[in-house]
This record gives sequence, C-alpha cells and structure tokens, in this order.
Amino acid sequence: MSKKQKLELTWIGKDEQAVLEPRILIEDPEKSYGDPHSENMLIHGDNLLALKALEQKFAGKVKCIYIDPPYNTGSAFEHYEDGIEHSLWLTLLRDRLVILKHLLRDDGVIFCQIDDNEYAYLKVLADEIFGRKNFISSIAWQKKYAVKSDSQFLSESHEYILVYAKNIGLAKLNRLPRTAEQDARYKNPDNDPRGIWTSGPLQRNEARDYAIYPIISPLTKKSHLPPKGTSWRFNKDKLESLIADDRIWFGANGENVPRLKRFLSDVASDVPATTWWDYKTAGHNDEGKREIKKLFPNAEHVFATPKPERLIGKLLHLGSKPGDLVLDSFLGSGTTAAVAHKMGRKWIGIELGDHCDTHCVPRLQKVCDGSDQGGISKAVEWKGGGGFKYYDLAPSLLKQDKHGNFVISEEYNADMLAAAMAKQQGFVFCPDQELYWKQGYSTEQDFIFTTTGHLTVAMLDTISEEMAEGEHLLICCKKYSAACEKRYPNIQVKKIPKMLMGRCEFGQEDYSLNIVNLTDEENAPEFVPEGPGDESQKSKVKGRKVGNKNPNQAELF
Ligand SMILES: C[S@@+](CC[C@H](N)C(=O)[O-])C[C@H]1O[C@@H](n2cnc3c(N)ncnc32)[C@H](O)[C@@H]1O
Repeated sequence: MSKKQKLELTWIGKDEQAVLEPRILIEDPEKSYGDPHSENMLIHGDNLLALKALEQKFAGKVKCIYIDPPYNTGSAFEHYEDGIEHSLWLTLLRDRLVILKHLLRDDGVIFCQIDDNEYAYLKVLADEIFGRKNFISSIAWQKKYAVKSDSQFLSESHEYILVYAKNIGLAKLNRLPRTAEQDARYKNPDNDPRGIWTSGPLQRNEARDYAIYPIISPLTKKSHLPPKGTSWRFNKDKLESLIADDRIWFGANGENVPRLKRFLSDVASDVPATTWWDYKTAGHNDEGKREIKKLFPNAEHVFATPKPERLIGKLLHLGSKPGDLVLDSFLGSGTTAAVAHKMGRKWIGIELGDHCDTHCVPRLQKVCDGSDQGGISKAVEWKGGGGFKYYDLAPSLLKQDKHGNFVISEEYNADMLAAAMAKQQGFVFCPDQELYWKQGYSTEQDFIFTTTGHLTVAMLDTISEEMAEGEHLLICCKKYSAACEKRYPNIQVKKIPKMLMGRCEFGQEDYSLNIVNLTDEENAPEFVPEGPGDESQKSKVKGRKVGNKNPNQAELF
C-alpha cells in the first residue's frame, strides 16, 4: 500500500497504519451454543483487532468473505452510527481490507456491499489492495421495488456488491441452477423429437465475405440475405447441414428470417450468475427486516439494516461450497453466519455492537436448534444442528501505570498470559499434557514457555534435562537470575514486558473510530494499574469485561 503508484486515491491519514497488537480471543462458554466441537466462531469486538487475532491461524484459509460495512450515509441507526469523516472511513476500510485479503485462500473471493455514497471510492481503494486485475465485477442488487415518492432527485432502488478474487487465475465462481423462468423460454412448436428448444439469431455483427450468401427456406423457397453490415454465423456448407438436420427455424409458416434452434438438452443445467440481481431472486431490504421481525416478534427495536437471507445465500453459493470457511467481519444481525450455517459452511462472524449478544446469539441459537424456519431454511431443508463458540477479544496485554510505564495488565491470568505471549512470538498455543514448559510450538522442535514466577538456575537446569536433543525453548518471564542468561545455547530467556516494547501498539482498545460506542465512558470506573492493592478494584477496568469474569473459560485462542 505504501508504494506510490501512478494513479491512486489519496486521503488525509492514508500513510498512517497502526501496528496492531495480536490479541488473544477468550471463549465465553455461557454464550457458546450447541455442538461443543464446533469450529464456528462468533466474536464480539472491534473487527480490526479481531481480524488481527485470527490472522496467525487463518491466513490463507478463508474461501469466501462477505462484508457489509456501514455505508457512511450520515445516518444514526438504533444499533450503530453510520457517518464518519470521509478520510477516516477510508482508513477504517483500508486497514480491514488489507487483513481480509491476507485471510483469503488463494482461490478465495470477497464480496463488499456498498451504496452510492462510497461506491466509487471503495472501488478504487479495493483495486489498490486486491489489484485491478483481480476485480471480477460489480453486482447491482435491487434493494427495493417501490418508488420513494419523497425522494428529492431520484428514488434509489439498488446497491452494489463489489466482487474481487484474491488471485483471478485461481478463482472460480460456482454457477446457478437454471430457473423455471429461464427454461420457460424453451418450447417445441414443431414437435421436434429432440425436445424443447429456443432460437437465436443466425447472423453476426460483422460482414465476412465467405458468410454472405442467400439462405433458401426449404418450405417456401423464400430467399434471405444477412442484413447489411452483417454475415451468417456459418459458411454455406455448414449451414446446409444444419438445415438438413432441422436445426434452422424459418417460423411456423416457413416465411420468417432464419434462426438457429438451441435445444434445452444441449445447454448446461447451470448458468453463470448475471450482474443484475432483482428482488425476486435475491430478496430486498424489507424482506430482510421481515425475517428479523419474525425471529424476534417482541423486540422493541428491530435491527435497521439486515440483509435478506436469499441475497447472502446467493453470494455464498457463488463463492463457496459446503465445508468451506466463510467470514463476515461486519456481522450486524448475524445474517451471514445464519445463512452459512444453514448451507453447511463453517463460519466466523465479528460484530462490535451489543447486538452481537441481543441479536446474533439468539438468532444463531435458533438456527442451531432448527426453530428458525424463515429465510432460506425451507429452500435448503434446514432442520437444525451444529453449534458455535462465542469469543471476546482480550484486553491489551500491556497497560501504562501511573508513571507511564508499560506493565502487564492485571486482567491477564497465567493462562491468558501464556496464550498471549505465544501469539506475540508467533507460536501456536497448545499446552502439553505432561511437560509444563511446552506451552506452544512454532516448529516440531521449537517451544515457548511463559512464567510469571522468578526463573532460577535450578528451574532452568531441570527444564534443560527434560529437553530432547535438537529442541529449542524460548522462556518469557517477569524476572530471572542473571546466571540464567546464556546458560544453555538452546534456551533463550527474555523478560516481559521489556521484550515486547516497540513491537506493536499496546493499550489501544478501539480502532472502530466510534462507529459504535464501546463503553459507556461516563459510568466506567477508573483503570487500576497492576500491583498489590485492593483486589475488589482490579476487575473494575474500563472496556470489555473479561478475565476475572470468566473463571471457567473454555478456550483461549
Ligand atoms: C450494515 S450493518 C451489517 C448488517 C448485516 N449484513 C446484516 O445482515 O445484519 C454494519 C455492521 O457493522 C458493525 N460494525 C461497525 N464497525 C465495526 C467494527 N469496527 N467492528 C465490528 N463491527 C463493526 C455495526 O455495528 C453494524 O452492525
């Protein structure tokens, strides 16, 4: 992104890119649902940090991404704000798209939904990130069919979905089954034994001398020449064989301009999707709202901008197959996750607002238990099954104390710290059942161990004895005896937090640019720095409540 190009979109702040902290995700088992082995993930938090948290495990793994970000229309919806300064919006989208691209599989595709407000800007921005050659198309979706009579100029009836491949050479979009409407064009007025057919023009819009000749109708002997500036699609010999095979149609009375017969049995049973999606085949905004109202008939406030399940279903059909991983980082009311689940895809959904709990969780529970029979359920014969895990983003690993020094956040217990250090250092967190110091690995022989205790020479010697030949260990600890340093060539000892300084931005809780308010700042109590003190104060920190809240946490990710 930073390399200057001949043609590029610039904006204030474009060159500023945050060095994100790779956070851990903490499962909240009380909100997880259904199959305990499910790999589906519902993440509550800012999507920039959440995407960064996913990057290590899921880079190159996601087959299909759909995003429906706030369109920057200037509206204040019940559940989220949708109007920020244009440059900030571009930065916000750019930062997320860069990681989304990284998460995509090499043959993956991304669908970005947008309206007129930012469409052109998003197109240029996405060209820069994905490469113009990887742009597949823009789909125009008819979001409503009624005319809004109080529109000042034009009554808007459509939105766009920009479609990009990660690598156009590897990407493939699935085709759609032929519709009854498409098949209805096929008839059999001459009782052809080969079955129903339709006819197409016989001329091409180019005058090729060898293909300009009169065609004589066998029945009426009427002669037909191609219109001026055109020629027939076939040479004379080929055309005569087509007439002999009864594949040229001159109309019921034999008088009409000749046309080529195309039999339904000769055409593929599926067709490529077009770029025009009308409400009859892909639903409309009101349909999306009705689906939500049906799921939550007693809700005081209906989510303002849900997409209809049929729209998402069509996109996921094009971009993925059952078993593929689908991601939506602006999950809203949970439509993408619900549809992906019903279509047998694995999914990851990220939502910052509280509607992650009030809408997404109950909606997805209904999907899992099969009681959601709205949306695409009937079409895919959905009966229920599966589950999902619910995660919160951990707070920042380091916080500044009252002297401005970075210290480990008191919200981190020993397990969280071990998981966070593994992630920071690029290790997979996976504690060994027998050897306590094998908490994570980066290769078969490279391990990491994090301890909050004081590392002594005696401890180091014991660990060293347990290590097999060829193994290496990184030990991260708060304190260690000077003699530990360089005692073993295959054991490296580092001090936290010193070893982390300057690596990324700590203490930044929210990259959402206030699109959604994270906390009620006024009522949030003071942050209490690490150190001995009143225990009751320690959980009273601003921001998301994690750590102490969840003593039975099932999984750190
Ligand atoms: C247009 S809505 C998506 C609607 C969704 N497609 C549906 O069918 O319900 C955009 C969503 O993005 C969420 N959002 C905005 N900024 C976010 C951020 N930084 N991280 C995660 N979600 C965010 C908003 O809270 C809102 O729910």
